[in-house]
Amino acid sequence: MVTAASGPAPQAAFRVLVQGVSKSYHDRHRELPVLRRVSLSVRDGEFVSIIGPSGCGKSTLFNIVSGVVPADEGRVYVNGEETRNRVGLVGYMPQKDLLLPWRTVLDNVVLGMEVAGVKRAAARSEAMPLLAAFGLAGFEGVYPHALSGGMRQRVAFLRTFLFHRDVLLLDEPFGALDALTRSTMHEWLLGVWEKLGATILFVTHDVEEAVLLSDRVYVMTARPGQIKMELGIDLPRPRHYDMTMSQRFLEQKSVLVQALRDESIEAMETMAAPA
Ligand SMILES: Nc1ncnc2c1ncn2[C@@H]1O[C@H](COP(=O)(O)OP(=O)(O)OP(=O)(O)O)[C@@H](O)[C@H]1O
Ligand SMILES: [Mg+2]
Repeated sequence: MVTAASGPAPQAAFRVLVQGVSKSYHDRHRELPVLRRVSLSVRDGEFVSIIGPSGCGKSTLFNIVSGVVPADEGRVYVNGEETRNRVGLVGYMPQKDLLLPWRTVLDNVVLGMEVAGVKRAAARSEAMPLLAAFGLAGFEGVYPHALSGGMRQRVAFLRTFLFHRDVLLLDEPFGALDALTRSTMHEWLLGVWEKLGATILFVTHDVEEAVLLSDRVYVMTARPGQIKMELGIDLPRPRHYDMTMSQRFLEQKSVLVQALRDESIEAMETMAAPA
């Protein structure tokens, strides 16, 4: 029982709280440790990014936070509660977020809601007014093959957002886009996030993207992934591209690049080491 004197539990202050999460995968011959005692937190309305070398366990961590994969040890709280079955408590846009080619933009967008049990007609009426904010007005009846890469990402993002508006886990959502489309998407995402007040946990390989978008950035070590560093990004908001040339932006970027470079060298050496 919680007494008045004890106050709210510490996890109640966070939208997402990860405490000491470890995970290994096993194949026939060996154990592959992927995450080691990872702890992190995201407050209401925060934009928090995770960067780390390829294979360090970022997507695995998202699978655990979203409840798709169980952790071996540690705890995950979403909105202050440790729920064993977390699937559906967060909006999750996985690294390879495929659109169904036989569904129109609108019907792809409402897919998550339909899976959650909302009738298609009701889901469509809820989604329609949001298409404009996601740069998709007029494209509701178009099929995915006729969309640009950036538009496909926005469809996938709107689908994630409609499924759950409070906490969004986005795993390299712009990874496949060219630099120009990426920069357009950054400004667009910042606008949407500021307007909608969502809480975002974001994975990226791109340090500049992490600095531009985030309130805080976690750097992970090479596998088994641990949190190596946490950096608060103290650039003012609203953010815009001109800031990427500022002294402070370059300083913060360089701290992260250095931390990441050390880990990438470590990751390459581990891969190159004889078994
Ligand atoms: N289901 C699985 N079974 C076995 N091994 C897995 C599984 N999923 C991931 N792994 C392994 O776990 C490690 C971490 O994978 P993960 O996808 O989490 O990395 P990542 O940090 O997201 O990498 P990237 O930046 O390339 O997306 C890799 O070595 C991968 O081979
Ligand atoms: Mg990944």
